Amino acid sequence: MNASNATRQKLVIAVDGPSGSGKSSISREAARRLGFNFLDTGAMYRMITYYLSSNGIENESEIEKAISTKEIDFGVSINPDEVQFKLNGEDVSKIIRSELISKKVSYYASLRQVRNFLVGKQRKLINESSKSIVIEGRDIGSVVIPDADLKIYVTASEEIRALRRSKELNSSIDQVLIDQKIRDEKDSKREISPLIKPENSIELDTSSLTFEESVTSFIGLVQNV
Ligand code: DC
Repeated sequence: MNASNATRQKLVIAVDGPSGSGKSSISREAARRLGFNFLDTGAMYRMITYYLSSNGIENESEIEKAISTKEIDFGVSINPDEVQFKLNGEDVSKIIRSELISKKVSYYASLRQVRNFLVGKQRKLINESSKSIVIEGRDIGSVVIPDADLKIYVTASEEIRALRRSKELNSSIDQVLIDQKIRDEKDSKREISPLIKPENSIELDTSSLTFEESVTSFIGLVQNV
């Protein structure tokens, strides 16, 4: 860490990238080793999707009303060792990873009402963080915190991302590749806050790196700030 940043109280590290790039696991592990807090914003999109879809709230005006009038309490842990998400007191950490939520989340994440609501909550969590924080998603360096101290864009080739995911899901690489292309297209072509490589970001291509090498490279970038 250089002298000017070492004197600053806390660093904000913005991490973006496509699904399957390894950005979540790499940045969480790096945050843990650095002693930083960690915010997984994808989980917040999954939480709101779970809340709205299980209450049958689908159209934009209903969503607007629910968001502005209902008490929705997000218990989001920013401790990288504690992967826990609570919605109005209910532990939803597991259910938000279900196939059903994974399918529905891109619709809710494409809506302005939902994004504005969550971006506000994310900025509040960043401001309230008692120490340096790594925050990970698709629009972090471009929208949530464009003046982050460091922006990292984690990526990997299409084939490698699909290969990793097919091993994880134990399914055929061909099907994973098709689903991935659809998801990439939705994430990067949506009208509001599409996934882009943010201005002034440093690309970390993990295609030919092991997990350990990726974490080490990530930490190296943070230590150079
Ligand atoms: O990273 P993930 O797969 O848990 O993200 C879930 C969904 O939320 C995915 O469709 C992308 C979307 N997302 C987003 O639009 N903006 C973010 N900052 C984080 C996730």
